[in-house]
Amino acid sequence: MTEIKEIAGIRLDVSATEEFLPKNELDAMAPAVNEAAASLEQGTCKGSEYLGWMDLPKNISEADFAAIEASAGRACSDAQVYVVVGIGGSYLGARAVLDALRGMETDSRTGYPEIIFAGTGLCSSTLNRVLSKCIGRSFRICVISKSGTTLEPAVAFRTLRTIMLERYGASEAARRITAVTDGERGALRQLADGEGYETFVIPDDVGGRFSILTPVGLVPLAAAGIDVRAIMTGAEKMRQACLSTDLRSNPAHLYAATRFGLYQKGFTTEVMSTFHGDLQTVQEWWKQLFGESEGKGGEGIFPASTVFTTDLHSMGQYIQDGRRNLQETFLCVRNAVSRLTVPGDTQISDDKPANLDGLNYLAGRTLDDINWKAYEGTKAAHGAGGVPCSSIEIDAITPEVVGALLYMFEKAVAVSGLMLGVNPFDQPGVETYKKEMFRLLGKPQ
Ligand code: PA5
Repeated sequence: MTEIKEIAGIRLDVSATEEFLPKNELDAMAPAVNEAAASLEQGTCKGSEYLGWMDLPKNISEADFAAIEASAGRACSDAQVYVVVGIGGSYLGARAVLDALRGMETDSRTGYPEIIFAGTGLCSSTLNRVLSKCIGRSFRICVISKSGTTLEPAVAFRTLRTIMLERYGASEAARRITAVTDGERGALRQLADGEGYETFVIPDDVGGRFSILTPVGLVPLAAAGIDVRAIMTGAEKMRQACLSTDLRSNPAHLYAATRFGLYQKGFTTEVMSTFHGDLQTVQEWWKQLFGESEGKGGEGIFPASTVFTTDLHSMGQYIQDGRRNLQETFLCVRNAVSRLTVPGDTQISDDKPANLDGLNYLAGRTLDDINWKAYEGTKAAHGAGGVPCSSIEIDAITPEVVGALLYMFEKAVAVSGLMLGVNPFDQPGVETYKKEMFRLLGKPQ
């Protein structure tokens, strides 16, 4: 039995995949993993112009933190609502962290504005709901777009900006808008410079889905009262661990090798399953990161996700018994914050016996303990059903651990993408729908 190390609050257990990917075969992949990792370190890999994400946790300066925290301070002082406008890599990371840390919410977040997201699609009722949240409440806008030209956030921003101009007038509106965008190029950069918005720069060498640890993620998270320094501390701990050439000491490499080895054996879909609803948006972020990085040239593991036990009552049947091309990665939390227990049920009168629902065997146990048993039972069942299962076990969801987890996934997908033979840092396929949509909309050339 392989020893499982905990690194930066995260334990990766791949032992239940051994039946499908024997230990010696997994270990034999170490040289290929290290070769991919070395090409990242040396900047000789495909897509090497987009490797800025690798050193973000190490390179962030006190001045960077101070600027981000000052912006958050301004938002706290005069906004009840903070509307984050962005799509894809320009919003998913911040939303994932915010949702993940919901369980930590205490009075310490009192005084921070409510964060809402806009520009994540073109659905009018979704945007309408955002607009109605701003009625009668002071608000700020943080518009995030690296290209500065993406249709969905641009439309939402124009709509929100128009309302803001009507409400506050030109100069106060300009003071209430923060733009996170390219340092020089794009329509948003031009607009921000022209209007005098506060701006933060997305580095040229960091692609959208790798940008959570840049101002793209950190500016809105700080405005929400999240400890962004702790996020970067966790990411830095994981960055250092992920420099190891020992496969078993490097969770990103071990994860990359396991899922890639399983892919080669026909397990072409990876389902990330969590028993913790607050991690659902982390799964969405993970899907974008892995899907956009690997899915090209006819290759790539299809990333899917489920939230259990809810989805055990829908997707559970397929995972247990459907087509056997699934590998599953559980994302679990050992110590959830809530201490809810199942109440006991005692007899209150002769004609009303206790325990009619038969649940007294659970009385006094925490929901999280029961949830953990559901995880263990599900993992055993799916393994027996022919699904290779790995587990990423988190001790507790804290900003530091979340930062470590995000970095681990970034490093893992960079390595596994390179092992697949693709460029993990581009997304040429995304342009195809845009061309068709703009043709139908009659966009001027
Ligand atoms: O990963 C990516 O590159 C994409 O998801 C982008 O982040 C997304 O399309 C938004 O692009 P932009 O920030 O240029 O508006």
